[in-house]
Amino acid sequence: MSLAALPTPPRPLQLDVFTFVPHAYAWLTEQRPVANVLGSELDLRLFSYRDYTPLRAGQVDDEPYGGGPGMVLRVDVVAAALDAVYEGSPQHRVVALTPQGRQLTQRVLEELAEEARITLLTARFEGFDERIVEHLCTDSISVGPYVLSNGDLPAMVILDAVARRVPGALAEGSAELESFSELLGGALEYPHYTRPAEYRGWRVPEVLLSGDHGKVEEWRREHVR
Ligand SMILES: C[S@@+](CC[C@H](N)C(=O)[O-])C[C@H]1O[C@@H](n2cnc3c(N)ncnc32)[C@H](O)[C@@H]1O
Repeated sequence: MSLAALPTPPRPLQLDVFTFVPHAYAWLTEQRPVANVLGSELDLRLFSYRDYTPLRAGQVDDEPYGGGPGMVLRVDVVAAALDAVYEGSPQHRVVALTPQGRQLTQRVLEELAEEARITLLTARFEGFDERIVEHLCTDSISVGPYVLSNGDLPAMVILDAVARRVPGALAEGSAELESFSELLGGALEYPHYTRPAEYRGWRVPEVLLSGDHGKVEEWRREHVR
């Protein structure tokens, strides 16, 4: 299928994040490309678990059954938050961010960018009560084979990377030809250089200074990694 024949996903893309720290997203929402598409192509909503907990004193997590260190995010708290926001079970993709999830790749991001609505659930400490992942989520995603302290950096990674895929986020064409793109056959982009042409004896490849677009293209094709 040609790109032109691909159906356009419904817009704006609604991205909902459930978190303990909604304020932590302020910086990212002020940066491009997220800032470029917020309120038009991308509708970002940040929800605090604490605002929906049915428990006293804003409790959201609890000790693990079987003992051990840390606290676990409670299933009843997350269910209450989802019920309140969606007035029942959400009918769209709900993703738990967890190291046990499917590994995030450009392909997974492109798949996410095709959705009309996505909900991201973050956790902290020991993570989710497994019933959240099993019964309240459609799938789970890991941003890499390492452990972070909470799900907010992973949620921001997805927010930033999905925003790049939304029309209007970037200058025309700049997301089409970059690392992992179809145009580069999924490979890594060729090296870039800028002025000065020589610094400490380190020369920019002559062909890039030649003004010969054909040769530049050829050099770039050869240097895709
Ligand atoms: C300290 S981690 C929990 C680690 C968990 N006890 C384990 O050993 O796998 C707390 C939370 O951070 C988030 N998190 C940490 N690393 C992550 C990763 N690689 N990908 C996605 N989310 C991650 C998840 O929401 C996780 O529940």
